[in-house]
Amino acid sequence: MNYSVVIPAAGMGKRMELGYNKVLHEVYGQSIIYHTVAIFENDPDCKEIHLAASKDEIDDLRKILSSFKKVKGIYEGGKERQDSIYNALVHVKDATHIMVHDGARPLLDRETLKRIKTALMEKDAVICGVPVKSTLKTVVDGVVTETIDRSSTFEVHTPQAFCYNLLMDAYQNAREKNLIVTDDSMMVEALGKKVHVVESNYNNLKVTTREDLAVLNILLGSE
Ligand code: CTP
Ligand code: MG
Repeated sequence: MNYSVVIPAAGMGKRMELGYNKVLHEVYGQSIIYHTVAIFENDPDCKEIHLAASKDEIDDLRKILSSFKKVKGIYEGGKERQDSIYNALVHVKDATHIMVHDGARPLLDRETLKRIKTALMEKDAVICGVPVKSTLKTVVDGVVTETIDRSSTFEVHTPQAFCYNLLMDAYQNAREKNLIVTDDSMMVEALGKKVHVVESNYNNLKVTTREDLAVLNILLGSE
């Protein structure tokens, strides 16, 4: 089974406070987005890579990614992550299976990718995650309103993988109903479809704040 991947990279990286898009930040001589795309370029089951980027960064990304043969298109992103993904998704042709992976997750490991692909052979929707380590509470105005049952709570990562038609249906439905989501799985859940979860790796972090850069340096260096 082969698949195509959509990689959203059109954010602004505000929480990183670098003054520029965090995926363009360089670690070990290459930008974060280069490290992320390399994972899929090097996976023989990945057929095509499509990205979403801010309009004024499309040319930069084209240069950065010029050595990757599987990169088939870099499209203008949108206001929210889900808009950016949709803008790329509509350009993907002839894919039976599709993955969505954050441009800001350059530490995805081969084992996690393998687990997703294996599950995707039998299931229509597969995401990955890790059990939460901390106790989670809902806090409103500085006061605890609920403690969440940790035993069944997962922190979910990307890639998230789907049958292409299912993800397209989920996006159409979300757009019709103006659903605001924080991951693609939520749109598929909104259709009442089962979403299966496989184990991710705690290191598969989404580089979000300055602290993450120190961890990224250590982990990429140890690869
Ligand atoms: N993303 C995107 N289009 C947007 C917003 C986000 O393509 N309108 C991408 C980001 O580039 C990133 C991924 O979605 O690779 C995950 O989003 P996030 O970690 O929130 O990145 P940013 O939105 O860039 O960061 P911040 O929220 O701190 O501004
Ligand atoms: Mg964001």
